[in-house]
Amino acid sequence: MCGIVGYVGERDATPIIIDGLSRLEYRGYDSAGIAVLQDGAVQLRRDVGKLANLRARLADSPISGQIGIGHTRWATHGAPAEHNAHPHISMNGDFVVVHNGIVENYLELRDELRAEGVVFKSETDTEVIVHLIERFANDGAHRDVTEAARRAITQLRGAHAIVVMSRWQPDRLVAVRIGNAGGVAIGLGNQENFIASDIPAILEQTRRMIFLENRQMATVTARSVSVQTLDGNQVTPSVHTIPWDLVSAAKGEYRHFMQKEIFEQARSITDTIRGRVDFEHHTVQLPELNLTEEAARRIDRVVTVACGTSYYSGLVGKFFIEHLARLRVEVDYGSEYRYRDPIIDDRTAVLAITQSGETVDTLAAMEEARTKGALLWSIVNAIGSQAMRMADGHITMNAGPEIGVASTKAFTASIVDQYLLALHLAQQRGVRTPDHDQRVQDAARLPDLVGRTLERSEQVEELAGLLHHYTNFLYLGRGINYPIALEGALKLKEISYIHAEGYPAGEMKHGPIALIDESMPVLAIALKDSVYEKMISQIEQAKARSAVVIAIATDGDSFIASKADHVLYVPETPELLSPVIAVLPLQMLAYYVAVRRGADVDQPRHLAKSVTVE
Ligand code: AGP
Repeated sequence: MCGIVGYVGERDATPIIIDGLSRLEYRGYDSAGIAVLQDGAVQLRRDVGKLANLRARLADSPISGQIGIGHTRWATHGAPAEHNAHPHISMNGDFVVVHNGIVENYLELRDELRAEGVVFKSETDTEVIVHLIERFANDGAHRDVTEAARRAITQLRGAHAIVVMSRWQPDRLVAVRIGNAGGVAIGLGNQENFIASDIPAILEQTRRMIFLENRQMATVTARSVSVQTLDGNQVTPSVHTIPWDLVSAAKGEYRHFMQKEIFEQARSITDTIRGRVDFEHHTVQLPELNLTEEAARRIDRVVTVACGTSYYSGLVGKFFIEHLARLRVEVDYGSEYRYRDPIIDDRTAVLAITQSGETVDTLAAMEEARTKGALLWSIVNAIGSQAMRMADGHITMNAGPEIGVASTKAFTASIVDQYLLALHLAQQRGVRTPDHDQRVQDAARLPDLVGRTLERSEQVEELAGLLHHYTNFLYLGRGINYPIALEGALKLKEISYIHAEGYPAGEMKHGPIALIDESMPVLAIALKDSVYEKMISQIEQAKARSAVVIAIATDGDSFIASKADHVLYVPETPELLSPVIAVLPLQMLAYYVAVRRGADVDQPRHLAKSVTVE
C-alpha cells in the first residue's frame, strides 16, 4: 500500500525521506517519488519499481533542500508508471502533494478542473487534489497553504491521508487525515519535524509522535506543530512515546523477516503474556481493556471482526470465549460486516483484531459497531494505530514490529491475547469454569512448547524439499484446529503462490473430496485431542483416494505413522492452546516451500502489509 514520509528542518531532507521510504518497503509498492524545495523551486524525482531505481535516479540527478515529501505508491487509478507516481505537482509548480486513499469523486472533479483549463499529467485520482489546492490558493486573498488545502479537501469524497508542500510558504508542510486511509504520524524532533504514514518510517529519527485523528489537519514547521479540525478549531494533541526499537525491526541473522518472525515466537508470546497473568492467584489483568465487572456482566454477546489471518485468529478465539467465559461469539469478516445491517446493541462487545490497526475494512466494521452503540474493543500490534485509538478498550499483541507481509507472530500473539481475554471475561463476569486456574497456568507453558516445536525446523525443511513441486494442497483440521487449517493454507498460497484450500475436515466429504488424487497432498492436523478419531478417519478417506498425506501429530503417537505418509510431530499441548503450536509447522512449511520455489518471501506479489483500500 502507499506510504508517505515528510521532513522539515535544518538537515538535507532527501536522505531522510529516502531512508524513511525504505522502511516502508515491506508494505508493498510499485513506484516511488520525492519532492524537495530547492532554491525556491519544487524539484521532483520519480521512478517505477523498487526504491533502488529512485535512488539511482537521484544519484544521476541529485536534489537537496531542507523540506520535502516522499511516497511509495501502490496503484489504484492509473498503471504503475513514472507520470502516475507521487508526488503530483500543480499546473504552475507552486504546490506538490502525496496522498494515500482513493478520491471517490475524482472523475467529476477532474471534469470540472478540465473545464477551467487544467491540463492533467497523470491518470491518478490524486492529481485532482493538487490542482484543487492551487485553484483555491489563487482564489483566496491570503496565500495560506493550510487554508487552501482545507478548502480543497472538503471537496473530496472518500478517506485520505495527504501531505502538501508549497513554494509559497517554504517553511511548512500541511498534513491531513480524513477517515481511515492509513494513519498520519507527526514525529517531533529538535528543530525539525517528520511526517509519516507508518511509525517505522521515522522511528530512527524520533519516538515522540502525534497522531492525527479523523478530520484533523496539521501545519508542521521545523519548530512547531499546529493541529486543527477541518472546521478550523484548534486542537491540543497528545504526544505518544513509541517503545519499539529499530534493532527488533532488523533482520538480524535471518535470511528473511518472515523467518525471523516465525522463530522469535517463543519470545513474542512471552511478551504477550508478560505482566498480565498472576500465576500465583490465577488471574489475568488487562487494564487497557477498561472492563469493569458491571460492564462485563452486561455483555451478552461478542462479535469479532477481522480480515485474513486476523479473521482466522478470531475463529480460534471464539472457542476460548465460549468455553471459558460462556459468552456467545460470532466471527465476521471486516469487509462484509457493514453490508448486512448487523444486529448490534449496547450489550454487544465488538472485538476488532488487526495487526496493523489500520486495515480499512476492519476499521469500517468498527465504525458500524460504534454507530449502533456497541462496546468496542481491539486487539492490535501497532501501538497508536487507529484501531487502538478508536476502541473503548484494547489489548496489545506485544509481538514487536512484524515486517514480513505474511503474518506469523502477530497471529499467535492475537490468539494468546484472546485466550487472556476469555479468562479475564470469566473473572469479571464471575463465571470461572472449574478448570479456570489450570487454564491460567497453561498459558505459562506456551513459550517453552513453542520453542520446542520450532527446534524441529530441519524436519520441516526436508519435507518442503519433497513437496515444493506440487501445485495444489488441501489442509484439514477439526474443532479448535479447523481455523489453523485455513491459516496454514493461506500462508502457503500467499508466499509460494501454490493453490491451497483450508477446510473443516468434516466438510471434505461434502465437495473437496472430488479433487483428491495423487497430485493433491492432504495436510491433516490430527493431534491427540477430542477429535483425533475423526481426523484419523479423514486421513483414511484421503489415503483411499491416493493422496499423499502429511499429518501434524502429537509426540508419541506412533499409530498415525502407519496411516500418513509423513508426520510432523509437535509436543503435547492442552487442547485449547493447541492452535498456537499446530500452526508453527505450517508456517515453517509455507516458508521453506516458498524459499525452495525462489519466491520473494517478505514481499509476495500483489500483497501489502497494511491494506488501507477497500
Ligand atoms: C496475513 O498473512 C495477510 N497478509 C493478511 O491476510 C492480513 O492478515 C490481513 O490483511 C489483515 O491485516 P491486519 O491484521 O493488519 O488487519
